[in-house]
Amino acid sequence: MGRPQLLVTRMLPEEAMEALRNLGHVDLWEQDEPIPRVVLRNKIKAADGMLCLLTDHIDVEVLADAHRLCSLSTMAVGYDHIDINACTERGISVGHTPGVLTESTADLAFSLLLAAGRRVVESADFIKAGLWASWSPTLLLGQEVHGATIGIVGFGRIGEAMARRAAGFGMRILTYHSSPIDAQALGRYSATQVSWDTLVQESDFLTLHVPLTPLTAHMIDGAVLRSMKPTAMLINTARGGLIDTEALYDALTAYTIRAAALDVTDPEPLPPNHPLLSLSNCLVVPHIGSATVATRTKMATMAVENLSAGLRGIPMPNCVNPEVFRS
Ligand code: NAP
Ligand code: GLV
Repeated sequence: MGRPQLLVTRMLPEEAMEALRNLGHVDLWEQDEPIPRVVLRNKIKAADGMLCLLTDHIDVEVLADAHRLCSLSTMAVGYDHIDINACTERGISVGHTPGVLTESTADLAFSLLLAAGRRVVESADFIKAGLWASWSPTLLLGQEVHGATIGIVGFGRIGEAMARRAAGFGMRILTYHSSPIDAQALGRYSATQVSWDTLVQESDFLTLHVPLTPLTAHMIDGAVLRSMKPTAMLINTARGGLIDTEALYDALTAYTIRAAALDVTDPEPLPPNHPLLSLSNCLVVPHIGSATVATRTKMATMAVENLSAGLRGIPMPNCVNPEVFRS
């Protein structure tokens, strides 16, 4: 291959842009909004490599136009926006960015937990609305965080980072995971692996850290919400599709659960007039789990390293479908 043609679907931190320009000819979508699908389908025809974002849906239809593509790198750890099997069938290696965003995402998840538990945003809005007359014994009472039970769904990188934070707050830690968790890892945080029913019924704060897959889609539905404590709070920094949004709206309006705090939603973004945004017991932030300068720079750098390796036909440092390199 001569100088490769690279499709990059958003402006990245300058050091990553410079590395990309050294790697090949960069076709950059410069606007700060997702590349329209029709433009993506047209541009991907000429691309040897692509660096995309989680807002780009790389499905069979898009891949049908990717006649030259051999290296696809997403600046995200989650890859539910990419049809991995279709990429593997076409010999396209797919890279992602695990690890570098674990701590910042757990920081955000824990800040949502605290904000929901102690009604921080609601309280700030209360003052801004000019409603604060005086200190009151019953004003804006929340839930204790220290000593409460946290239920961690998925004890992977971010799930474990949540356990570390929860241990520091003296919380009782329960976790539900797809396979048995190493006793040493649980022991570090005095955590207990429990069944799904126990987790849902006993958690004061239920926090989601699994990928979105056909198995996990809508894992939080009306029945699950009804079996949670009425004082429980649901935290989601994983993917919006894990929760049935309509069922959550019903549960929050009926106070089946006390509150939710969401970094990710379905749909995403929520339209400004979406009913969830009208609820004082639902805090929504715009998918900022990894949004720190340092973390986003590391993610962009890692994404370029993956892209580069895939273009050279050598194993990507962080590859979702390494079998491509073995065939
Ligand atoms: P990870 O290390 O792969 O952890 C996910 C864990 O969930 C894995 O250990 C996995 O176990 C487990 N799991 C999968 N399906 C399960 C199920 N049905 N029930 C219970 N456990 C299950 O990934 P991570 O780095 O922690 O990231 C987790 C997710 O967070 C990502 O996929 C992404 O969607 C999301 N995320 C969001 C942001 C944000 O900005 N809000 C930032 C980073 C990540 P197995 O490996 O054994 O299947
Ligand atoms: C963000 O949501 C990611 O998956 O990196």
